[in-house]
Amino acid sequence: MRLSIEQAAHQLQSGRVIAVPTETVYGLAASLAHPQAISEIFALKGRPINNPLIVHLANAEEVEEYAGVLPADYFKLAAAFWPGPLTLVLPSIVAKVPSMVRAGLDTTAFRIPSHEMTRQLLRKTGPLVMPSANISGRPSATCMAHVEADFGSHFPVLDGGVCTQGVESTILFWHEGEWKVIRLGALAPDIFLPILGYIPKVTKIESGAHTPLCPGQLYRHYAPRAQLHLTPHFSDVLSGVIIGFDDRIYPKGCELISLGLSTTPETAMQRLYATLRLLDQEGITEAWVDSNFPIKGLWLTLHERLSKAAQK
Ligand code: TXA
Ligand code: MG
Repeated sequence: MRLSIEQAAHQLQSGRVIAVPTETVYGLAASLAHPQAISEIFALKGRPINNPLIVHLANAEEVEEYAGVLPADYFKLAAAFWPGPLTLVLPSIVAKVPSMVRAGLDTTAFRIPSHEMTRQLLRKTGPLVMPSANISGRPSATCMAHVEADFGSHFPVLDGGVCTQGVESTILFWHEGEWKVIRLGALAPDIFLPILGYIPKVTKIESGAHTPLCPGQLYRHYAPRAQLHLTPHFSDVLSGVIIGFDDRIYPKGCELISLGLSTTPETAMQRLYATLRLLDQEGITEAWVDSNFPIKGLWLTLHERLSKAAQK
């Protein structure tokens, strides 16, 4: 069910959960001021309660109201990448962010999205928590039809068109004196070099503590029902579906679902979740994925998402 921005704001302020577009993926949104709506998000998604949510704000300046001591280079990162597809995990003022949002941690993840409709909405509603608008473990939603496929055609959605980035934000986490990438996303790690003076490492943060520091790293994501096989060559594949590129030649008996050109990771990212969802929609149970691309820059994100989608 399509909502106007005014209706969307009203629903959120009345404590309801709705889907909201961002430049990365659609989010399932609840107001930070409505704990019962926040808990409904976990139920709707089937999301484990120890996996915390990202707080989305209209302006970078608002972050300081919720965050505690800000790590080195925070202001440089905020100035360079917000609004945009970057999430920063920061120490938080625990009294200001409900424990359910932080999953009991003393940090909070913050993001200032750049999608114009989302920004207008956030200016009306104040802070919104938004995980991706998909059933947990399924591919994220990059258009209204994907949200409806997971939550039904009556589910309220602010329709902002097709997401321009198509994969989730990159998440940076301040750990042992430097920023680390705890989730690859729409910004490649090397983009941070001019700002930080180093390329943040892509890390699994190990924690001996009872509560893991980065719970999201524990869960499997992005999986279609189809079994995917990543392969750089296709000489043995005689028939079936190949997820590949327009500028490549594949065996004649195969059907190509295209991620665009092998030179544009941006297009491949933008089409990724729609492609994975298409497999399910068409009842395809097995597909081969062309993994013949460099494992660097934005291709890193694509490789990581495809590898996770291929895990059974
Ligand atoms: O692009 C995005 O980030 C989208 C759009 C809607 O903004 N949101 C999104 O949310 O991807 P979600 O919930 O699907 O993923 C958030 C990730 C999870 O892996 C979660 O564990 C991690 O962020 N996270 C949230 N708060 C955290 C915290 N305090 N410490 C460590 N990781 C955190
Ligand atoms: Mg998600």
